[in-house]
Amino acid sequence: MNRCPHDGVCLNIGSGEFFSADHTFLRCGRHGARFEIETGVCIEGPCNGQALEPVALAVIEGDVCLCGVELLEEDRASERFEDSEETMDITIHPD
Ligand code: FES
Repeated sequence: MNRCPHDGVCLNIGSGEFFSADHTFLRCGRHGARFEIETGVCIEGPCNGQALEPVALAVIEGDVCLCGVELLEEDRASERFEDSEETMDITIHPD
């Protein structure tokens, strides 16, 4: 899940980037914690040893689907995040 175990912010806060400069780790934009991509375990930073919450995925007819994640309605999304935070938009295409 896109939530840093240190302070609960989205990993891509600030720059909008999820990865370290060399793309070998996930990186939190607030304090720079680095996470292993395969396990989600923090290997450097203020939440060292903690882990990102995993999210189940399923590939259904070629589409990658998130399982068990509550999506925000568009009209509620702006209430949940501060203006300075950047987030990823998720769009559902029913067909
Ligand atoms: S909020 Fe992510 S490292 Fe501090």
